[in-house]
Amino acid sequence: MKASEHDTGTALVGRAREHRLLLAALSTGRDVVLEGPPGTGKSTLLREITARFGVPLVFVEGNADLTSARIVGHHSPAQALRDGFSADTFVPGPLVQAMQSGGFLYIEEINRTPEDTLNALLTAIAEREIHIPRVGKVVALPGFRVVASMNPFDNIGTSRIGMSVHDRLCRIAVDYQSHAEEVAIVELRAVGTAPGSNTAIPDGVTEDAVALMRATRSHPEIRQGSSVRGAIDLALIAAYLLENNDDEQPYAEVIWDAMVVALSGRIQLDEISSANPEAVLRTIWEKHFADADRRLEPG
Ligand SMILES: Nc1ncnc2c1ncn2[C@@H]1O[C@H](COP(=O)(O)OP(=O)(O)OP(=O)(O)O)[C@@H](O)[C@H]1O
Ligand SMILES: [Mg+2]
Repeated sequence: MKASEHDTGTALVGRAREHRLLLAALSTGRDVVLEGPPGTGKSTLLREITARFGVPLVFVEGNADLTSARIVGHHSPAQALRDGFSADTFVPGPLVQAMQSGGFLYIEEINRTPEDTLNALLTAIAEREIHIPRVGKVVALPGFRVVASMNPFDNIGTSRIGMSVHDRLCRIAVDYQSHAEEVAIVELRAVGTAPGSNTAIPDGVTEDAVALMRATRSHPEIRQGSSVRGAIDLALIAAYLLENNDDEQPYAEVIWDAMVVALSGRIQLDEISSANPEAVLRTIWEKHFADADRRLEPG
């Protein structure tokens, strides 16, 4: 599990179609890749479904450090030195934990996983059993499934996943949700997130946060815009600043301060863009509040 992940509940906003399709694939014993940009609710969706199945969910993050020894497991060196190698000295990794418990193995960003780790995974997917030296055969319980996630625009440290992997996985595409659903997500996630905080988000702030965040996805100079996580953070920070606005900064300026904190690190500019993130965000902010002023003008 990612250290940064502090989501709690599994309540899911929208996503009825993806939910139905994933449920169908997993119920019929299929393994699946969820393909979509970061922050589109892939983990939340899977958590929801796992809770319904009542099986364990084992998280593992795909990256260069995810060796096959890590995902399968390893022999504890100290114990093996003392007692010799045996099944008892084996410390199961996430793959074996999921196989033995009949649970779901969720491997995030599978495209960042080294090839020999993918091969170990492939054997488990194809054969539903693996052979571990000095342990023997590990057979998966019937509930075992592999669910992978992948960002289609990711090109950092990724290996091309071979056709042999793709050929064994069903694929469900997950895209950004509607404005209204993203507002509902922010409302759901933003309240009482900080320890000891019950800051309610003032009227209009959530709408502005979602609109500003969504505008980063269609700006010509931005390669990848922010997920709804950016709007959640923007709304929370803005609410705090508005509540503690001792020098009475105008509303739009408070939103600007929160926007820079919440979004400037989240957007990826196009390689050809010579602007910096703040300058690009500033144009989005100016347009947003100019449009809002226009709407308020009579006639
Ligand atoms: N449909 C949704 N319903 C409820 N919450 C959602 C939904 N979509 C996103 N969220 C919230 O947005 C945040 C990101 O969602 P989540 O972690 O599920 O995304 P992800 O697709 O797994 O992201 P990543 O690709 O970075 O792992 C979480 O706080 C989550 O609670
Ligand atoms: Mg996730």
